[in-house]
Amino acid sequence: MHELEERFPDVRFYNPRLTEVQADVSIGPGTRIGSFSLIHRGAKIGGSVTIGSHCNICECTIGERVSIQTACHITRGVVIEDDVFVGPGVITLNDKLKGGALSYPRICRGARIGGGSVILPGVTIGAGAIVGAGSVVTRDVEAGALIHGSPAQVRLRAGEANA
Ligand SMILES: CC(C)(COP(=O)(O)OP(=O)(O)OC[C@H]1O[C@@H](n2cnc3c(N)ncnc32)[C@H](O)[C@@H]1OP(=O)(O)O)[C@@H](O)C(=O)NCCC(=O)NCCS
Repeated sequence: MHELEERFPDVRFYNPRLTEVQADVSIGPGTRIGSFSLIHRGAKIGGSVTIGSHCNICECTIGERVSIQTACHITRGVVIEDDVFVGPGVITLNDKLKGGALSYPRICRGARIGGGSVILPGVTIGAGAIVGAGSVVTRDVEAGALIHGSPAQVRLRAGEANA
């Protein structure tokens, strides 16, 4: 049995020889982790989560039933709440590169982030919001809104019908 399977008997690694999980990581039962992914020291990952291949998961907090698709960068300090979907190639950031303090994105319950999106430092994406593919999210997103573009703009608010 591989060392990762001994440490995390309730977690399924697609190929444990091709995954690194550093010390002080917690992972809930039923979670699946793809190959060539790196889970950094201190990460907290809930149960029934899917983490695809080629992901870099820093010291962050990930809730229950979250899906993180292939090739995502989840930077240190990010909080991802329950039932969030993170499409392939999403990048989260925590440093504005202007010398100030780090600030951390938060993705609230049930939000869906389209593939290739970039989430800037300190941005909160409200519960149930949808971020279109390829968006650059520079400001907080209200719950239930649909946004896309660079910079991402609100296209639809919660309760509004699609035109
Ligand atoms: C944002 C999204 C949900 C909108 O879907 P929709 O409401 O069906 O939108 P439509 O396809 O009818 O497009 C409406 C308009 O928005 C534009 N648009 C749609 N998605 C866009 C995006 N991600 N970025 C920029 N413009 C976009 C369309 O070009 C169209 O513009 P037009 O009216 O000038 O022709 C969808 O396009 C999207 O990006 N989904 C995410 C897909 C994804 O990443 N999945 C991950 C798992 S595979």
